[in-house]
Amino acid sequence: MVLNRDHPEGGKLAEGLRRFADHVGDQSPLYRTLARAAAEDDTAVAILADAPHSQPPANLLFAAVQYLLLEGSGPRLASHYPAVAGPGAEPEGDPVAAFREFLVEHRDRISALVASRRVQTNEVRRCTALLPAFTAARDPMLPLALIEVGASAGLNLLFDRYHYDYGTVESGPAGSPLTLTCEIRSGHPPIPVPVPEVVARVGLDLHPIDVADPDAVRWARSLIWPEQLDRVGRFETAVAIARENPPTLVRGEALELLPRSIESSPGEASLVVYHSFVLNQWTAEDRDRLDDLLTQAANHRPIDRISVEMLAPGAEYAEITHTRYQGGKSEPRRLGTAHYHGVWLQWEA
Ligand SMILES: C[S@@+](CC[C@H](N)C(=O)[O-])C[C@H]1O[C@@H](n2cnc3c(N)ncnc32)[C@H](O)[C@@H]1O
Repeated sequence: MVLNRDHPEGGKLAEGLRRFADHVGDQSPLYRTLARAAAEDDTAVAILADAPHSQPPANLLFAAVQYLLLEGSGPRLASHYPAVAGPGAEPEGDPVAAFREFLVEHRDRISALVASRRVQTNEVRRCTALLPAFTAARDPMLPLALIEVGASAGLNLLFDRYHYDYGTVESGPAGSPLTLTCEIRSGHPPIPVPVPEVVARVGLDLHPIDVADPDAVRWARSLIWPEQLDRVGRFETAVAIARENPPTLVRGEALELLPRSIESSPGEASLVVYHSFVLNQWTAEDRDRLDDLLTQAANHRPIDRISVEMLAPGAEYAEITHTRYQGGKSEPRRLGTAHYHGVWLQWEA
């Protein structure tokens, strides 16, 4: 479909780019500038017409561009990306002009990436919210069995390999090459010391990122905003850890895979099904189906579900919820809120 900004669908895409500019705000001044420019650019809007409906289009566009920059295309535009050119690189000329030229020059490849790839940002620092949430949810007498819905590269399934520093308390292996810091803004999250034992872990994903595949890893890295070198560093360290200890990832629709995964989960364990930053890609019907499926599966054994999701329109942080499914019933409770990349935590439970 060929769209421009005057078409109603094109107008919506342009509006989405403006919202993305506001969302990244000070965390990516480059994307804020480029997203505002893209909202006024017919080539950008036309490229986004190919994005799958379930996907946040602006994230796809900027990841596709960064993916090509990381392979060496567009050195002038790349000079504005610290994550590509390096923190000391001297930016060349006007980034907006370079961006517009890049879109025109690489339009076919960018369109193909936007049409075929997915937003699969795997943010390992979200483990700072998952760690206390698992503790709040699990049976303390049993080890954990984990099923992650929408695991991407599965980096968060390896939460017990990372060291945590919450300011007042530390946890996780002290010798880990990766330390995740988190500010506790309020409340008393239950940080377990040591981290709980995990006896089974599996991730379900429509398009699992294989950490052994450099192209797949480059795509996941391209989703990180270009000034956030600390996130790039954490991602690369976590990928190196995952290459040594690859988690089991199963390809497919989570709603179809879940019943079998639950069935094959070990019995003598506290079963936690969790998801973070996934349900924004789901329809309301599919979210209801997940709830029904877990309610039904919990006729045979209790299941604890942890959700870290940013679903409310215009939400600026994620809500952390624990739902216990047991005997045909479900009991949700709100545990707190978290920064969308795990920078801080507010605990309420
Ligand atoms: C934005 S990523 C989040 C990854 C990880 N949970 C995190 O927080 O770092 C969302 C992931 O969910 C996956 N996904 C979305 N819908 C899915 C579905 N119906 N079944 C399986 N995976 C799905 C996507 O492929 C993507 O890898």
